[in-house]
Amino acid sequence: MYYQKLDEFPQDFLWGAASAAYQIEGAFDEAGKGRSIWDTYAHTPGNTYQGTTGDVAVDHYHHMEEDVALMGKMGLKAYRFSVAWSRVIPDGEGAVNEAGLDFYRRLIKALRANHVEPVLTLYHWDLPQALQDKYQGWESRETIAAFKKYCQVLFAAFKDDVKYWVTFNEQNVFTSMGYRWGTHPPKVMDIKRMYAANHIINLANAEAINLFHEMVPNGLIGPSFGYGPVYPLTGDPNDVLASVNADDFNNNWWLDVYCRGEYPFFMMKQLQRMGIAPVVTAADEQLLKSAKPDFLGVNYYHGGTVQTNRLQKPVATDQQAKDFSATDPYLMQPKADQAQSPEIPAFNSVASPYLAKTEWGWEIDPVGFRVALRQVYEKYRLPIFVTENGLGAVDQLVNGQIDDQYRIDYLQAHLLAMKEAITDGVAMIGYCAWSYTDLLSWLNGYRKRYGFVYIDRDDNGPKELKRIPKASYYWYQQIIAENGQQI
Ligand code: BG6
Repeated sequence: MYYQKLDEFPQDFLWGAASAAYQIEGAFDEAGKGRSIWDTYAHTPGNTYQGTTGDVAVDHYHHMEEDVALMGKMGLKAYRFSVAWSRVIPDGEGAVNEAGLDFYRRLIKALRANHVEPVLTLYHWDLPQALQDKYQGWESRETIAAFKKYCQVLFAAFKDDVKYWVTFNEQNVFTSMGYRWGTHPPKVMDIKRMYAANHIINLANAEAINLFHEMVPNGLIGPSFGYGPVYPLTGDPNDVLASVNADDFNNNWWLDVYCRGEYPFFMMKQLQRMGIAPVVTAADEQLLKSAKPDFLGVNYYHGGTVQTNRLQKPVATDQQAKDFSATDPYLMQPKADQAQSPEIPAFNSVASPYLAKTEWGWEIDPVGFRVALRQVYEKYRLPIFVTENGLGAVDQLVNGQIDDQYRIDYLQAHLLAMKEAITDGVAMIGYCAWSYTDLLSWLNGYRKRYGFVYIDRDDNGPKELKRIPKASYYWYQQIIAENGQQI
């Protein structure tokens, strides 16, 4: 559908950029911070690309004022960051570390002084190690109580200064990587445990939302979900059915719980038949129903194409699963020539014949972004905040500059798709590009860059950590100044 003229972006549209604590802060053991499961995981040889860690990362902890000043200069309207739970409560549930809390207090103050709206993510994957050791982390309901306490500390501290809050970042990705593929901590490969932990996180999400609504009545809160539309490879009804199954498996399993307070029937029935469904009590059902997010955070990188499973291969071996998932966390199902996920062995992921790929093999699909926004809004009718979207690429520093025209092209195409979705009628709060500065890619080290601001460091070490705005920084500055009029 083509419009002669697209609607303008809303006047108060939040043009933003995002980050996550472990990927940028560094200072992993400074000022009373406790260890997180990512500190432990990255320190264990063989777990990450060339042994890269977030020990120093891009040292945002010590460059915070400089980074925020650059945001102000850019005219950025919103900055999404996450709080490292173990910086604020080192053992996850005990005493508050005032120095840790103070770092975020200073950050929020600096953002406000630069007219940048803070968007605070409560959990971007770095669970305090102490909770993993003591309770087995998200496999125990004790961790819900700890999370609630942590939320309470942050809500009380920042309720007057932060309006937008994100509960969990990409629960679909971190549970699958952590418990299905074993490529993130806690490095488990057991899908029954994955579904159990996932249910506990759903309860923690609901508790956090309800507490928030009591404590921060003027704020807005929601989860950020890694969403991708699912396409059937052909019009063969069997492939279409495969895509319906895959959509349940990849998306509805989480979104229905967040937005409707109940699990989708098809997936739940499959898990029950296999004896791997989570234990859901009547009180759990009530809690899930009671918690209503105010918006839905959508992280969009790409969708996926599926066909009906014609191979009927057996369950993935450990190695196959690892090889597969190391390349792309968004493909939740093995490719056609690989083994199956046992719960729904009825579809395979296949490459789209229509889409180009990034250097890391991720499909580039701006139309899919419009499809995603339309689908999610149609289904749940919650305003959407795009909390991540961006291009991971190797950037070249030439004569002190980075000409990342490929990133500008990628973002431009996605912004156009978003403007079309707004014209279609989707209610949108804002858009945070991933990422603001370059940062650590969890499993790909520092080579895979996403930022508007280049950080002079590589996989071998931090060098001088100089901040250098890329061509995309100046391009986005212009987009923001014109409120997206030229898109
Ligand atoms: C999202 C995460 O999954 O994708 C980010 O929320 C992550 O933390 C981003 O960095 C890009 O993934 P990757 O693997 O390219 O770093």
